[in-house]
Amino acid sequence: MTKTLVLSSDHAAIELRQALAKHAETLGWTVTDIGPTTTESTHYPKHGEAAARSVASGENQLGIIVCGTGQGIMMAANKVKGIRCGVCSDTFSAKMIREHNDANMLAMGARVIGQGLALEIAEAFLSTEFGGGRHATRVDMIKAIED
Ligand code: RB5
Repeated sequence: MTKTLVLSSDHAAIELRQALAKHAETLGWTVTDIGPTTTESTHYPKHGEAAARSVASGENQLGIIVCGTGQGIMMAANKVKGIRCGVCSDTFSAKMIREHNDANMLAMGARVIGQGLALEIAEAFLSTEFGGGRHATRVDMIKAIED
């Protein structure tokens, strides 16, 4: 089955986003990079929302979004129904948000962590499956809050 990933960022994380795109492709993901492409100052909510809508609609299975801290773009993405996005600065959390929380998006901060660590975090996120079982009960409780 094709593994599909959408990427977006604001101006603060363009280089990191492009490195993430290349890395995800080497891991076998089909990547849709929705920009932006210039370093002109832009607004992270619209880029977080665009990637989140692509995941929520089923167009892409997972999403990775990056801004200066990862926080603003994560907040925007989480406003879209069906999105569970966490900011990670370590590989353990990236694995756990997939395994326990069934996160469908990962956010990172380009001004917080280096590119090498960011690629490892992305890899941990992309290579972990949701654990189901008791975790599904809890994720269902999150979904119920949305409803
Ligand atoms: C942009 O300066 C910065 O605010 C943004 O990249 C991000 O860190 C917001 O959460």
